[in-house]
Amino acid sequence: MRVLAIDQGTTNTKAVLVDESGAMLARASAALTTAYPQPGWAEQSAGDIWASVQAVIARVAEAHGVPDAIAIANQRETLVIWDAATSAPICPAPIWQCRRTAEACARLIAAGHDAQVVEATGLGINPLFPASKLAWVLEHVAGARELLAARRLRAGTVDAWVLWNLTGGRAFATDHSNASRTQLFDTRALSFSADLAELFGADVRCLPEPRPSDSRFGETAAGATVLPAGVPILAMMGDSHAALYGHGVRAPGPVKATYGTGSSLMTLTPGRRASSNGLSGTIAWTDRKGTAHALEGNITVSAQAAAFMARLLGVTDAAALTELALTVPDSGGVSFVPALAGLGAPHWDDAATGTITGMTHGTLPAHLARAALDGIAQQIADVFEAMERDVGHPLTGLRADGGASGNAVLMQMQADLLGRPVETADVEEIGALGVAAMAMAGQGVAMRLPEPSRAFRPGAADPAARARWAAALRRTRA
Ligand code: G3P
Repeated sequence: MRVLAIDQGTTNTKAVLVDESGAMLARASAALTTAYPQPGWAEQSAGDIWASVQAVIARVAEAHGVPDAIAIANQRETLVIWDAATSAPICPAPIWQCRRTAEACARLIAAGHDAQVVEATGLGINPLFPASKLAWVLEHVAGARELLAARRLRAGTVDAWVLWNLTGGRAFATDHSNASRTQLFDTRALSFSADLAELFGADVRCLPEPRPSDSRFGETAAGATVLPAGVPILAMMGDSHAALYGHGVRAPGPVKATYGTGSSLMTLTPGRRASSNGLSGTIAWTDRKGTAHALEGNITVSAQAAAFMARLLGVTDAAALTELALTVPDSGGVSFVPALAGLGAPHWDDAATGTITGMTHGTLPAHLARAALDGIAQQIADVFEAMERDVGHPLTGLRADGGASGNAVLMQMQADLLGRPVETADVEEIGALGVAAMAMAGQGVAMRLPEPSRAFRPGAADPAARARWAAALRRTRA
């Protein structure tokens, strides 16, 4: 079975053609841009997103023919709003990073609504999620309310938008993992909630049908892409969820960590789990075995901290920074908290700023380089430990992916700090492979997933390192 898996991400759209042996028969990628029209705003052209999907499908299909099925993994929480009659977006898509609704969210929190929203969705009120974004569009975009009244308005995450276009407007659906990130989805009832929509000033009438992640979501329409009519879309998942599935995690225990600009950590839980430690409860996926629940923690600035420090020190890149870091045995008491855009999970402090502590006359650039790598690992450890507190028992280890997981020095530091093994999957396309595996599993086909490429066993850690980090963190937030 050959599945064309699309990974529609924030910076690019990737496609891979994969068969049940897990072999990647073809790859294609198309870049995307993000506009920042006002402070705190971040948006993308939904038309460009769709065009990038068409482009990568064309490149793979022209060289390798028609696939047996399509699977979609996607950037989550980005909201696309369009007119069903024309399939034209009515405004740019506010992406997950967009904070234009920060004040509206703060008002809802101040009015005491957070507990109710967490209870239903697992998510604390935050502008990241589409609920407040949809309310903003209904209030500010001319014609939105009229289209809603005429039942022509469609609002969905990127999976729903891509599906709509692939099927020529015949299918309007989303999967449970994406739905669970909208903050409008009641993860107890597995349905969008009219009560939540009313609270935010949104409306459930324009939302897609939520379905299990391994559903037959629809078939391609002739003319939508280079593909002929009738190719089934057999799986959709949020990218982080697809990566967890791609790592082969099927039961509670391991934690997935993606080391990108920011980081996302996710671990399966035996059932719905509300966090008391600054994490989100979310749906990992729904398949024929039922709904898998998870805890997730998102770190705002992660591997980007190494690039930032490299720039400060005038070295070329993160690889050169790592070389420099290796010239000293430790950070010499220096800590760097990379709160360059506030702090995400588990601390959640928008006002925090980046901080370097512990410098003396003896501090060398190499100590700062080491502190930057350490700061990445420490933040991951903060989320990992919050997960352990939430689940109430030790977690077994970390499955790492993303660009910086290729940094062996960082991975060893991480294993030492956690006191747990770290395994890396040296595959950029782990999310695409995960959603392809989900599509095949839905058809009763077991796809082979990539074996971990390296394993890092925990070694001796500096016993004072965590306490030093905690002290630096307190200064960052003061
Ligand atoms: O939650 C947002 C996340 O899904 C974005 O992922 O890969 O586009 O940075 P990515």
